[in-house]
Amino acid sequence: MNPQRKPIIAGNWKMYKSAADALALVNALKKEVAGIENVEVVVCPPYTALYAVSTILQDSEIKLGAQNVHWEKEGAFTGEIAPAMLKELFVRYAIVGHSERRQFFGETDAGVNKRAKAALANGLRPIVCVGEMLQQRDAGMTQAVVIEQLEGSLAGFSKDDILESVIAYEPVWAIGTGRNATPQQAQEVHAFIREMLGRTFDPATAAKVRIQYGGSVKAANAADLLSQPDVDGALVGGASLDAKGFGDIVKSARGNI
Ligand code: PGA
Repeated sequence: MNPQRKPIIAGNWKMYKSAADALALVNALKKEVAGIENVEVVVCPPYTALYAVSTILQDSEIKLGAQNVHWEKEGAFTGEIAPAMLKELFVRYAIVGHSERRQFFGETDAGVNKRAKAALANGLRPIVCVGEMLQQRDAGMTQAVVIEQLEGSLAGFSKDDILESVIAYEPVWAIGTGRNATPQQAQEVHAFIREMLGRTFDPATAAKVRIQYGGSVKAANAADLLSQPDVDGALVGGASLDAKGFGDIVKSARGNI
């Protein structure tokens, strides 16, 4: 991590937790992270729990995120949620382009780009996810895949847009598998992404953009991953469902500042 970037630890709860369970988890998490400064903490519950969770985060530093967002203001888009609907619930971040959306729901870079831009236009910060599959890594295509996803997902972004965004590098082979990238593997791709952002925008802008690592992050490996110079936080799935475990990840970010 680097002092010019505030670390961001986000919990992606995926399709877990009823509204009642979500309340219990966030109440416990509030205690775990009370008094921790200089780390941005975000939770992304399922849509059905956003309202309940937003009511108990009003007096908290923990920020609320959604797991996706649609690009239209409203309309006949069954199953989708508009940016303003999230804003109404005090949502500040929206994950876009998660590999599970890409893999299981056919989301494309062009769609991710529309979602990210709509988020930005409505004052939500997108967490733009990219990452290669195992066959692609084995074939030496990691950088090519990441470039293609970033070029597509960030098309038309201004400098202000990228500064409001967070990039999440999540190698697909590390998600939910218990097999995280090594700190060196993560750093290598993060540095590559920053270099690419430097070419697309400019190096000073790229130096301010936060790049999270995601994929089997847990309390036991977080400190090592977060100690890398270009790893500015974590997007945490499974381990974010437990207040103590997630709280410990947040604490390891603080320890690395
Ligand atoms: P995981 O998920 O931490 O369970 O591997 C990460 C993610 O999908 O964002």
